[in-house]
Amino acid sequence: MSCRMKLATKWTLLATAMASTMPAQKVATIENPARLPTPPMGFNNWSRLMCDLNETLFVKTADAMASNGLLEAGYNRINLDDCWMNDQRTENGSLAWNTTKFPHGLPWLGQYVKSKGFNFGIYEDAGNLTCGGYPGSLGHEEIDAQTFASWGIDYLKLDGCHVDPRHGRTLQEEYKYLYGHWHDVLGKMERPLIFSESAPAYFSTTSNFTDWYTVMDWVPQYGELARHSVDILVYMGAGSAWDSIMTNYRFNTLVARYQRPGYYNDPDFLIPDHPGLTLDERRSHFALWASFSAPLLISAYIPDLPSEDVAYLTNEALIAVNQDSLAEQATLASRDSKVDILTRSLADGSRLVTVLNHGNETSEINIPLDVLGLSSHCTYQARDLWDGSEQTIKRRITVKLNTHATAVYKLSVSRECAAVIPTGIIFNTASGNCLTGNTSTVSFEPCQGGRSQIWQVDSSGVIGPLSERSQCLTTNGESVSLQACTGSHVQKWSYAISGNLRNLGADKCLTERETGGIGVCGFEANHQVFGLPGGVQLAVLNKY
Ligand SMILES: *[C@@H]1O[C@H](CO)[C@@H](O)[C@H](O)[C@H]1NC(C)=O
Ligand SMILES: *[C@@H]1O[C@H](CO)[C@@H](O)[C@H](O)[C@H]1NC(C)=O
Ligand SMILES: *[C@@H]1O[C@H](CO)[C@@H](O)[C@H](O)[C@H]1NC(C)=O
Ligand SMILES: *[C@@H]1O[C@H](CO)[C@@H](O)[C@H](O)[C@H]1NC(C)=O
Ligand SMILES: *[C@@H]1O[C@H](CO)[C@@H](O)[C@H](O)[C@H]1NC(C)=O
Ligand SMILES: *[C@@H]1O[C@H](CO)[C@@H](O)[C@H](O)[C@H]1NC(C)=O
Ligand SMILES: *[C@@H]1O[C@H](CO)[C@@H](O)[C@H](O)[C@H]1NC(C)=O
Ligand SMILES: *[C@@H]1O[C@H](CO)[C@@H](O)[C@H](O)[C@H]1NC(C)=O
Repeated sequence: MSCRMKLATKWTLLATAMASTMPAQKVATIENPARLPTPPMGFNNWSRLMCDLNETLFVKTADAMASNGLLEAGYNRINLDDCWMNDQRTENGSLAWNTTKFPHGLPWLGQYVKSKGFNFGIYEDAGNLTCGGYPGSLGHEEIDAQTFASWGIDYLKLDGCHVDPRHGRTLQEEYKYLYGHWHDVLGKMERPLIFSESAPAYFSTTSNFTDWYTVMDWVPQYGELARHSVDILVYMGAGSAWDSIMTNYRFNTLVARYQRPGYYNDPDFLIPDHPGLTLDERRSHFALWASFSAPLLISAYIPDLPSEDVAYLTNEALIAVNQDSLAEQATLASRDSKVDILTRSLADGSRLVTVLNHGNETSEINIPLDVLGLSSHCTYQARDLWDGSEQTIKRRITVKLNTHATAVYKLSVSRECAAVIPTGIIFNTASGNCLTGNTSTVSFEPCQGGRSQIWQVDSSGVIGPLSERSQCLTTNGESVSLQACTGSHVQKWSYAISGNLRNLGADKCLTERETGGIGVCGFEANHQVFGLPGGVQLAVLNKY
């Protein structure tokens, strides 16, 4: 019997054991989770209309959402993006709206959308110009916050175009300074605005991810959501809308460890009227974002949105998943060249299973229960969240999916089968390669979906592959291998917000490289940052 048979669902043991050995780095406390206890839902016009915005559009959008069921389903935010303002500030330095685009003014528009039951959000930029070339907020943070409050605005998306390092700071430090300053300004307001931070997106496109990870470390301290990667394809943009969705989807899988109630990773807008998408692809986009508990901000011309799109966007069961109070982001149980399987837990104790066929053909997929962190000896009741149909699951779930389609099941868990073991791939979030255990050898390989790439993590920090139940990830300080599980310190690992997997015995970190696989822990270096299955609580979260 392996030490991994004694599995628990909490990570407290490890947290206690590891607290003293953790480096004192980075802070990630949420000051006020209640400011946004679940991810935002609503409308933003950017992807669909870009700078072609005006009062009529927002009035018509609010009217349509109030009558077609979107507002009732929870989409209760109307947010302006770039290009709403005048190209000059007023004499006292305040921002002004463009009176051609907004003849009645933004306070009037705010009143209008509020009278319908919406909140009202706005866009600015941390630098000295917005991305569209309008006045940025640099040096005007206080007056802009006052102005927004006086217009009845309760949500700010702060972009990061035209930011240049000043006073000897690095670019990363300059963004931290500017977003931190805005955080302080917002914190002093009578009713602080929801703060959506675009800073990480400006660091997501280089091959060295250290600065990107560093920005991701601080955004949860300052705001409620962060745009972590590139913009989703705009309506008239060149390229494949599905590829764009997949790019942002994959980026989101890299940063799951940051999300918790009060802070949400934002993979950008839903684009349900993009002409390049099939219905399966649009439904997948929504189902994946719902499974992530990502913001659900629709960027489309809603007055003309077909009823087939309104139908899936208002799916009650998937919205309940999106708005679940745990706000867990689904993580990868398995990944191969065609299929991703994601899991998460929900507040009522049930288990969510999301299966994406990102391959080009119809696929039949068999998922053993242990891959989902559940017991092969238990029986579960699975509800298909698309159509509400129920089935009893023993040993495995089987699903047939069209190309680019997504299935979502909610598995209810009986009391005697309530245990969930964190189970899934352990992958380098820079290279995308999966930790692979093959007999005694441990290596990093392209993710192929096999059981030698699916790992269980127990509450004492012991890690082993599903393929070899009695073998555990072990280090002798020079290399890592699979050895018979003993539960000794050289088989215990901690996982922190840094993404490092640190070995308790060797005090070294798992490292992706040709040989060895272990090294002196660096600062969020590409080869030492990993994604783990959800449910592994971050060992040092409370230490920060
Ligand atoms: C949406 O926002 C963009 C950026 O401000 C703007 O160009 C576009 O005109 C807007 N579209 C609508 C419909 O408001
Ligand atoms: C508002 O913008 C829409 C296109 O987004 C345009 O058709 C309409 O004429 C504009 N209305 C005004 C009053 O400018
Ligand atoms: C206001 O918007 C109109 C219509 O897009 C544009 O022609 C005009 O230049 C803008 N005015 C200012 C002051 O930015
Ligand atoms: C600045 O001027 C605008 C009008 O030009 C006015 O609406 C606003 O209240 C003024 N703000 C402050 C802080 O004085
Ligand atoms: C923006 O700020 C940078 C430095 O912070 C400065 O060099 C540049 O001139 C500014 N641009 C404008 C338009 O103010
Ligand atoms: C990656 O970037 C970080 C932070 O800028 C830097 O310290 C580190 O040396 C870089 N790593 C490599 C391999 O270039
Ligand atoms: C699917 O097709 C696209 C374009 O036709 C291609 O780029 C991609 O590599 C294919 N994917 C797989 C998994 O075969
Ligand atoms: C495991 O290693 C053996 C021998 O090195 C190799 O033949 C086999 O393909 C490997 N299996 C996997 C799943 O990588």
